[in-house]
Amino acid sequence: MKVVDIHTHVYPPSYVSLLRSRQTVPYIRTFPDAPDSSRLIILPGEDDPSTPSTSRGRPVGPDYWDISKKIAFMDQHGIDKSVISLANPWLDFIAPEEAGEAARKINDEVNEICANSSGRLYAFAALPLSAKAEVVVKEVERLGSLKYIRGIIMGTSGLGQGLDDPALDPIYAALEKNRQLIFLHPHYGLPSSVYGPRANEYGHVLPLALGFPLETTIAVTRMLLSGVWDRFKGLDVLIAHSGGTLPFLAGRIESCIAHDVHLKKHGKIEGRRPVWDILKKNIYLDAVIYNEVGLNAAIEASGADRLMFGTDHPFFPPLEGEGSEWLSVNTNYAAIKAASGGKEAMADGILGGNAIRVLRLD
Ligand code: URA
Ligand code: ZN
Repeated sequence: MKVVDIHTHVYPPSYVSLLRSRQTVPYIRTFPDAPDSSRLIILPGEDDPSTPSTSRGRPVGPDYWDISKKIAFMDQHGIDKSVISLANPWLDFIAPEEAGEAARKINDEVNEICANSSGRLYAFAALPLSAKAEVVVKEVERLGSLKYIRGIIMGTSGLGQGLDDPALDPIYAALEKNRQLIFLHPHYGLPSSVYGPRANEYGHVLPLALGFPLETTIAVTRMLLSGVWDRFKGLDVLIAHSGGTLPFLAGRIESCIAHDVHLKKHGKIEGRRPVWDILKKNIYLDAVIYNEVGLNAAIEASGADRLMFGTDHPFFPPLEGEGSEWLSVNTNYAAIKAASGGKEAMADGILGGNAIRVLRLD
């Protein structure tokens, strides 16, 4: 039995240098009240002057870029292989004319990291989504030449208009043709106004626990409503955080579609693939939901053979500091054990077997 972590991020050294050179989100910098601690500021609004210093981004250190730290973390937590991915916000903020070259560089760098890992690491590539669709397609086509790449990671903004944008069709077609799975991951959250006037008192809880999964759920539902999977029946998407809230809300989404006069008038109900079919044929879910209740919903929606263990390292480190076991990881291990209810084959599949099969790992 092998344990494979498919949700684990890195900011490669060249990307860290880029973040250090910037003055607007996303960036890395120190603040006058804590000159010895670099902070990683990536989420929208995270550097608002009203933000308390403990919520101003997060402390950033070698866990984010040093691969020996990643391997040590894997060894500490019994992880055999990891499929690493650039963390948010990927290349979304790169100037359009520089994005193609930036993607080639970072994907080559990540592939090289994997090549030097003695078989421990594979990767999801990043796409130059601020560039024109044809530049993105070209990078998708090139990924086949990178031995350790097993798909691409991307956020919910697409080419700037979301994932229901018809301009993405050539990219979806290229991903489908090249059998490159999309690892869909949130970044932008919800408008901060929904968190209310006391949001500052609650740290990162509302944007991370709720904003992230709802952003993902809305993005996937827009893909569904725009017929992406009716046009691209072989397009595979691995959805972060056990699908956001999709497994829980799928029934409500279907019901709202079935009762929508506008959709009926425009012929968008007849012949469409229901979300339940897509959940079982196109969607994979990570097991990063920290409790068996959410995990059971994911298993019921997509099937235990479509779930894959993840850690979200280096995010959610133990508050006790360096050297301690990661509560976030052990909570996910415990949830998988509980949801599998003694069915060893199910647990083994979620922990690693499914990733080895789906992502064609050696
Ligand atoms: N916070 C982030 O910004 N990204 C993650 O992947 C997890 C937490
Ligand atoms: Zn993540």
